[in-house]
Amino acid sequence: MSKSEINRISREQTADALALLDRLKAEYGGGKAFVETYGCQQNVSDSEALSGMLARAGFTPCDSADEADIILFNTCAVRENAENRVFGNIGALKHLKARRPEVIIGVCGCMIQQEHIAKKIRSTYRHVELVFGTHALARFPYLLSEALSRRGAVMDVADSAGVIAEGLPYLRADGVGASVSIMYGCNNFCTYCIVPYVRGRERSRAPEDVIAEVKALAAQGYREVMLLGQNVNSYGKDLGNTDFATLLSQVAQVEGIARVRFMTPHPKDISIKVLDTMAAHDNICKQLHLPLQAGNNRVLKAMNRVYTREDYLKIVQAARERMPEITITTDIIVGFPGETNEEFADTLDMLEQVRYDTIFSFIYSKRQGTKAATMPDVLTDEEKKRNFDALLAVQNRISKEINDTYVGKTLTVLTEGVSKTDEAVLTGRTEGGKIVNFTGNPDCIGNLTRVTITESRTWSLVGEQVN
Ligand code: SAH
Ligand code: SF4
Ligand code: F3S
Repeated sequence: MSKSEINRISREQTADALALLDRLKAEYGGGKAFVETYGCQQNVSDSEALSGMLARAGFTPCDSADEADIILFNTCAVRENAENRVFGNIGALKHLKARRPEVIIGVCGCMIQQEHIAKKIRSTYRHVELVFGTHALARFPYLLSEALSRRGAVMDVADSAGVIAEGLPYLRADGVGASVSIMYGCNNFCTYCIVPYVRGRERSRAPEDVIAEVKALAAQGYREVMLLGQNVNSYGKDLGNTDFATLLSQVAQVEGIARVRFMTPHPKDISIKVLDTMAAHDNICKQLHLPLQAGNNRVLKAMNRVYTREDYLKIVQAARERMPEITITTDIIVGFPGETNEEFADTLDMLEQVRYDTIFSFIYSKRQGTKAATMPDVLTDEEKKRNFDALLAVQNRISKEINDTYVGKTLTVLTEGVSKTDEAVLTGRTEGGKIVNFTGNPDCIGNLTRVTITESRTWSLVGEQVN
């Protein structure tokens, strides 16, 4: 396969790989597997596929490395501190491997798709035997088979334009919601970002495969689906006969699905058709996660985001005109190379203008091989930290002000379960994605229920179920 070609793996090919897992189960099954996931929803979804394949091979999931026979770290490369955490945790397993040499330790995912990291893991962490990148996910049965039978190092780190595999057995965590990847990869090459290098080119799943999966999830009792892609607006461009708005409306029409969400739309090409589709379907959540990254036009250009702050504000306005109650959240990078304090002030100004419900903010992290890695800095680490703290202070005030407006209102909440910190309290989410902790009848777990908000916090709401 050439590096520019997408490798589409059919259900029949997957079936062969799954048959191998059945044979592995007969020979090696009965143990436990621990899969630790770092990074984004896409990685969580990949881990569900890995857990599904491991379960098929007879390895049941467990919650700690200590009790596992197979340990897999599914890694994220988006920022340096994510990578450092992985290195620390892999290093800590050295003693476990010395004590129990039969344990198979594997590291996979986005970090591995970078050549220098794969090399470092092989040379520095000799107790790691199984190393494979994101493009090797569907080949996992063969890699597992080698690791179980041959022992010694098994590696699959080849770069490629990308793979799409249908028919993998996803083992999802229990709950009311499930994620469904509609596409993989990214073509945008924002100058700070490693994702296009480790996830390959954009490739869409066939709409009938997505719809079949959503129908199966509804039949299994899932009430909410989250459609995943690095830039969902690009969905279908490689297929030619569909687009994201069309798919969104098809998914919304699947019987039994009470809520549809999606992540992430890129502001450069979210369409009015997508906003109209959201407005037209009651079960498409009125929530938009629209990553801004920076509020200054020079910085946005240097980031290769391909929109201006004015373009962005127009989308927000169009969304609010159609859906006045919509919640809007975003991602912000502080300290992009060359960003000055004056330019950062434009980001603060955007927070005031848009009034986001929540933001996810990050201090810029240099990623080897990206364009921004060669751009000179103007601010010191201390100045960046100060700007970061200023950003949080502004946003926390806005989040609390917005949440205060919910007190006294009655909202529809999809109840997810009992609160982790208090058994007498139920927890769920509003249509806008806000967490609500409330008192009520546990019978409503898994269902939509009406809750009156009695109190607001910066990151959550408190309420009582309406009887
Ligand atoms: N595809 C999504 C983002 C995926 S990465 C999108 O375009 O919106 C998630 C977030 O991580 C990004 O939105 C960005 O805010 C942050 N991020 C990515 N690369 C980063 C880097 N090098 N340093 C700091 N934050 C980064
Ligand atoms: Fe990274 Fe930009 Fe692609 Fe998002 S759109 S994954 S930020 S390159
Ligand atoms: Fe996601 Fe991190 Fe990879 S954000 S795509 S797991 S680099």
